Amino acid sequence: MTILVTGATGMVGRHVVAELMKTGHRVRALTRTLSAAGLPAGVEVVGGDLTDPASLESSLHGIERMYLFPVGRTAREVVAAARQAGVRRIVVLSGALADTDDSEDGYLAVERAVEESGLEWTHVRPGEFAANWLDWAPSIKERRVVRRPYGAALTQPTHEADIAAVAATVLVEDGHAGRTYTFAGPEALTTVAQVDAIGAAIGTTVRFEELDPVEARAEWISDGYPETFVDWIFAMWAESTRNPAPTNQQWADVVPRLTGRPARTFAQWARDHAADFR
Ligand SMILES: NC(=O)c1ccc[n+]([C@@H]2O[C@H](COP(=O)([O-])OP(=O)(O)OC[C@H]3O[C@@H](n4cnc5c(N)ncnc54)[C@H](OP(=O)(O)O)[C@@H]3O)[C@@H](O)[C@H]2O)c1
Repeated sequence: MTILVTGATGMVGRHVVAELMKTGHRVRALTRTLSAAGLPAGVEVVGGDLTDPASLESSLHGIERMYLFPVGRTAREVVAAARQAGVRRIVVLSGALADTDDSEDGYLAVERAVEESGLEWTHVRPGEFAANWLDWAPSIKERRVVRRPYGAALTQPTHEADIAAVAATVLVEDGHAGRTYTFAGPEALTTVAQVDAIGAAIGTTVRFEELDPVEARAEWISDGYPETFVDWIFAMWAESTRNPAPTNQQWADVVPRLTGRPARTFAQWARDHAADFR
């Protein structure tokens, strides 16, 4: 069987490719830039763009299953092309907050396109990626500090390799059709604890400097973050600081249940990315 991985050069996609290679199935990987893909030997690398469904025709030829990176606007045409080409199962990379965004660019648009296609589908809805904290890398590298508001806010970060392991499992195994898996990492941690874990991974102290939320908001907006995004994420962190919720165990249980392995901790993620922070 040949499985197409879209978003194959992405943070999650590279691990999906690696996981699928271990299963012995043939893996075809889609990229918009063949010369920069840097994928392992043994993967068939093909060019194509999810915003241009016509560009996918030859990439879809002979494919039975597909990991779909979410591009909402053209999802319907992409899924129709996949169906036409003989694809039988699509696993969608979505997000835990999918239900909050009904726009044509949101995850729901992709989920619905797949659900309405008549193909077998499974939605993989991870929560917050641990990899979001790669944003801290320049400041940690240069000054060994993270400057943020809401140091006590709790999040439950998910290792990209675990997201990929879930996706690869449901691509290969039967019994997951029509299921939506919402999940996160193994434990809720404060921002300060996550900064400490990165310090431990690189063998030095990384200082956390708590910013005043009003000043931080202005700084983020002047750095180019959309105002609606800043207000949304700050409100979430403020709420978590006021009412810290414990680890969502239901979400934490999904990775071990589906993959048969413990979920990777944030400390593990920090060790895996130590070179990014040194
Ligand atoms: N950050 C979070 O906390 C979070 C939480 C839940 C869900 N998510 C979702 O997860 C996704 C990110 O996953 P990721 O980290 O694996 O991705 P990523 O590192 O951002 O990489 C995405 C890959 O997709 C490919 N791609 C992008 N646009 C494409 C297009 N139009 N056609 C074909 N390929 C395209 C790119 O490959 P080429 O350049 O090689 O073409 C890129 O390497 C996003 O949709 C995000 O919203 C994120």
